[in-house]
This record gives sequence, C-alpha cells and structure tokens, in this order.
Amino acid sequence: MAQDDLVIDPWGSAQSTDYDRIIDQFGLTSMEHVDLVSPSKLHRRGIVFAHRDVDHILEAQRTGGAFGVLTGLMPSGQMHLGHSMVVEQVKWFQQQGGDVTIAVADLESQATRGVSLAKGRSVALEEYIAHYAALGLDPEKTNVYFQSTRPVVQRLGFQLGKRTNLSEFEAIYGFGGETNLAHVQAPLVQVGDILHPQLEEYGGLRPIVVPVGVDQDPHLRLTRGLAAKTNWFNLRASSSRGWLVSLSVHDENAEVFGQLPNGRVDKAKVAAVFDRVVDAVAELGFSDIVSSPKQGTVHIPSATSRDRHSIRMALLRLERTLGGPGLMAPASTYHHFAVGMTGDKMSSSQPKTTLFLRDEIATVEKKIKRAFSGGQPTVEEHRRLGGNPDIDVAYQYMMYFFEEDDAYLGEINAAFRSGKLLAGEMKQLCIERATAWMSELHEMRDQTAHQVAEFLADDSR
Ligand code: TRP
Repeated sequence: MAQDDLVIDPWGSAQSTDYDRIIDQFGLTSMEHVDLVSPSKLHRRGIVFAHRDVDHILEAQRTGGAFGVLTGLMPSGQMHLGHSMVVEQVKWFQQQGGDVTIAVADLESQATRGVSLAKGRSVALEEYIAHYAALGLDPEKTNVYFQSTRPVVQRLGFQLGKRTNLSEFEAIYGFGGETNLAHVQAPLVQVGDILHPQLEEYGGLRPIVVPVGVDQDPHLRLTRGLAAKTNWFNLRASSSRGWLVSLSVHDENAEVFGQLPNGRVDKAKVAAVFDRVVDAVAELGFSDIVSSPKQGTVHIPSATSRDRHSIRMALLRLERTLGGPGLMAPASTYHHFAVGMTGDKMSSSQPKTTLFLRDEIATVEKKIKRAFSGGQPTVEEHRRLGGNPDIDVAYQYMMYFFEEDDAYLGEINAAFRSGKLLAGEMKQLCIERATAWMSELHEMRDQTAHQVAEFLADDSR
C-alpha cells in the first residue's frame, strides 16, 4: 500500500473530507450525472455525492422491479442530526418503492462499545426507532431486526469469511497484529446484514442499496468483493461491443460445471450450462447470442450498458436454479458529513458539536448562537468583505437539515457572501428554522410512539 493511501477506519474518529480523492481512490462514481426522478434536498445539493451501482436500483425502479434498502444502526448513545441524514435517504428510497430492512447492530455495539444486548435493544427501540418513526419512515414497509437474534445473518458472515483473509482485512481496514478480533467479526456480521435480504426468506433476489457515510465504505468494499467471489457467472464488457458472460468455476459449482475430479472436463455438461445461459439471455429478448463453450464465453454483441442490470439479474436467477447462492453485490450511496457546530467533527461524545434529536428548544438556540461562524470579526468588515457560507455552521445546517426551499437558500447564501446578511442574522434565521423543525419532530415523536413495535420484524418482537 502506498504511503499516503487513505485508509478509512469505520471505528475511528478521523474523517477525511477530501471527497474527490475518496471518489478517486475507492473507485466510487460521482452522483453528478445520475438523473433522479424526484431528487431529495440531499441529492439536489450534492450532499449525496457518490455511489456504487445505484443504476441497478434506478433500473429496477424504472422497470417496476423490486428493490430493497438496508441500513444498520449502532444502538449506543443518543441520536443526533448526523444520524438523521441516513434516515432521510432511506425514507426517500422507501417513497420510490423500496422495501426497507434495518439492522440493529447489537452484536457490534456489544463487541466494540461494551453495550449489553438488553441495553442495545432498549436504546434501539426507544431512541433510534422512535426517531425513525418520527422522521416519517413507514412501519408497514420497514423491518427492523437484531443481529443477535437472526442466525442467518451470522451464518452468512461465517460462510463468506472463508473467501477472505487477514491480508485483505489489513488492506481494507488497516488492521495489524494487535487488532481485536471483534473488529474482524463485526464486519463479517455486517456482510451478513447487507446480503441476507436477498435470500428467499427475506424477499429474494433483488438489488439492495445501502446509503452510508464514507466511513462505512470499507464494509461495502468487503461485502461487494465477497458477493462477487461467490458468483457462478462473470459479466464483463466485450472489447469489441456488447457483453461477455463466462463461467467462474470454484469448489461449489465444479460438479455442475462439468469439472471432473481428475482434471478433465465433461464437455456435454459444459455445453448444457452454456445452453442454459443462452436461454436465460434469449428470454430477455436478445437474438444475436454467440455461444462459444470452447472459448468459455457467451457474447451478446447488441447489449448496451443499459442492459447490464437485466443480464446480471438473469444470470443470478440462473445461478440459483443451478443450486448457487445467486448473490448480487450491494449498491451504495455516500453522503458528505455535516460540519460539527464548533467547526470540528460532529460527535456524540462532544455534545457541543451537534444537536441531539432530544435537545430542548432552548439548548438548540444556545448551541446555534455559539456555533462556528463564517462571518467577519466586525460588522464593518463583514459588510465590506462578505462572509463565507461554506464554513458558516448556521448556513450549513439550514442546507443539510432544516431548509427545503432551494431558491431561498440561494438567496441567503448570496446575501451572506456579499455581506448584506450578517452572521448574527444568519444564526437567527437558522434558529427559527431549527426550532420549527425540532418542535415538529418532537410532536411527531409523541404521535408515532405507539408505532415503534410495528417496525419490528416477526423474529424481533
Ligand atoms: N457498522 C455500522 C455503524 O457503525 C452499523 C451497521 C451494522 C450497518 N450493519 C450495517 C450499517 C449494515 C449499514 C449497513 O454504524
């Protein structure tokens, strides 16, 4: 690994905000050219800035196919504004037709933060799910479960563990000899969290999207790599045109793929598998399919990038009928972190850096008044030089959390920049919006309190 490579530690407190570099180095795709039908404010403002494979989700949505959304929560501490960003994105996907699964990471919380399972359960319900309900998630279309009581999640993690090793963990997470094994187990359980909704009992094969902050990307890289390693068929762009399908032979499928123990190949079996591939692809409406079992490929010259999703789905369905797991690598979206109120990172352990969803209105007001300002030291200088909204916490909080109206946000941005709007005035505007937002949230929390139990999956009541 090169000396200055970024390693993101999902449990650490360091936070890189060099987002272009993150996109570049981790191979994310910018959201800039992704067309959404009804973008939320987080999309319109570039706060959700990158993704992996989100086109699978949009394609499912466009063609009326099913898709799922998965997120996980660490049941420790109080919920703050930063946490609400993921909820907003989950809600948006839910409104677009996705089914929602929420993992309570009680095993992870116990292993990495010393929270007992009983405590984890009560914190999850009373603090997190209570706010998810208040923020408008639909209990009818949401399933909350606990890592500790869904064995299949742990089993999947265990089974996929054999497809990775300590060197990969070292590369992804920066682990070394002194790393506590809880930090090895937790990611494997998280792999189980992310992949299990595709199992037949949990909704079956469909694309799953995981909206996260970039700190969680290591888990997604791990999960995507492991899912890909189980796949029985590879799909890649042909160097001429169209797509090429090939077999990925490993222990689990050697027999089905006609690989005899003596190293020979059962040609009839291979031909039969290729025929199944051709049939599966033909069903999608392609007629010019070139099957070459000898070269080991099925070529679909007329398929374009728009067809990648449907071909991939057809191959995974075929894999399942042949006895394979048929797991799809998860899609993900990434959001920028809001600045902490003091200008540092937002953190539960430093209450002044954020607003907790249970903060009293008076506390909210006090915190915003003391928040880091992008204004000039004196009114005279501010009028003359203008302020910087990019670092002004009051403005940033309006943009990230409280203000829906883009045009109005543009106006106050320009007024602040030009010096017309003073730092104290910006704070006052923010206090008004924040107060309204929080009061509404608190009212909704009372109104939806009775729904909390309805969010729980059958195995979690
Ligand atoms: N590790 C996550 C956190 O620290 C919690 C989590 C567990 C999670 N499973 C997940 C997040 C699955 C996203 C998807 O907050």
